[in-house]
Amino acid sequence: MSGAPLVLGIESSCDETSAAVLRGEHEILGHVILSQDVHKLYGGVVPELASRAHLRVVTEVVDAALAEAGIDLQDVDVFGVTAGPGLIGALLVGLTWAKAAAFALGKPLVAVHHMEAHLFSVNVEVPEARPPFIGLLVSGGHTMLLWVPEWGRYELLGETRDDAAGEAFDKVSKILGLGYPGGPVIQRVARDGDPAAFAFPRPMLASNQRPGDDDYFDFSFSGLKTAVLARVRELEAGGRLAGEVANLAASFQAAVTDVLVEKTLRAAEEKGCRRVVLGGAAAANQALRSALAEGLGPDGELYHPSPRLATDNGAMIARAALFHYQRGDVAGLDVTARADLPFPGLVKQ
Ligand code: KG4
Ligand code: ZN
Repeated sequence: MSGAPLVLGIESSCDETSAAVLRGEHEILGHVILSQDVHKLYGGVVPELASRAHLRVVTEVVDAALAEAGIDLQDVDVFGVTAGPGLIGALLVGLTWAKAAAFALGKPLVAVHHMEAHLFSVNVEVPEARPPFIGLLVSGGHTMLLWVPEWGRYELLGETRDDAAGEAFDKVSKILGLGYPGGPVIQRVARDGDPAAFAFPRPMLASNQRPGDDDYFDFSFSGLKTAVLARVRELEAGGRLAGEVANLAASFQAAVTDVLVEKTLRAAEEKGCRRVVLGGAAAANQALRSALAEGLGPDGELYHPSPRLATDNGAMIARAALFHYQRGDVAGLDVTARADLPFPGLVKQ
């Protein structure tokens, strides 16, 4: 291998099939992301349909990424692939593909943790988005607040005790009849609403919480969803729901945002670090980003992924794979997909 290694990253943990060719840390040569539409019919991801859809397109997606990069499969120096967490059948499609290719070509294979990869996503495009930083991961499956003093060392400050933030957007969207996925549509509808119209609870947020308290950094979004549901039922019974959908969306979004922002600022305070890196599809949320930027103030640094890198994508997998490859963390052919893969390097506070 001469020069920076060419890394192929493959992602298939949920409902995006994606492949990317990365040269070194920051140069995306080819990147293809195919989102599965079929789940819109069911209001959420149907695991078996996801596996089948990945299987149908995985080869074409990889081929398209290689073609965009102008290279052949043989030119790939390192194969990186999501090994978990995620839907087991979906994970197996990408992992098996990458394993077979790495074995056939005698190239190293790196098994990547999906959430660690989300932490790397901004860094693909913005080299300054590197440790030390406070990481806030907000996606459909996870909500995690982390202290990242260096790549590979992750201190878990807080996480959700029930629903993830993105999941709450999806569920509230369903309740409001706005469809799936909920995040983008709630954000759009909320623009015409008043965030103070309904006083929804700010779960796990109380002014008397102190560092060291169990719930100081943790999240919980399930009760908030129930509070929205109760309001919707009341309004429906009074025939006033249609006129309040925008207000409900805006008030719900404000509640989620308040909690995420406040806890992130607490983490910044505790660690004495006003650099925050966002990851996960819900990091695209504009209300969250502006509230965080405002909260961090002029001396703060907020990094958020571009839309393509916020959602599940192969480039972040390749970037995380490169980091592990350089440390010698290469997987054997006995590596297997795990729905509950432990986060490498993670310690609980
Ligand atoms: O990262 P992602 O694509 O998949 C997982 O790893 O889970 O996250 C998808 C989730 C969905 O729940 C979706 O509603 C949410 O991210 N989402 C948003 C926004 N865009 C997507 N949530 C809030 N605001 C958005 N703009
Ligand atoms: Zn994800």
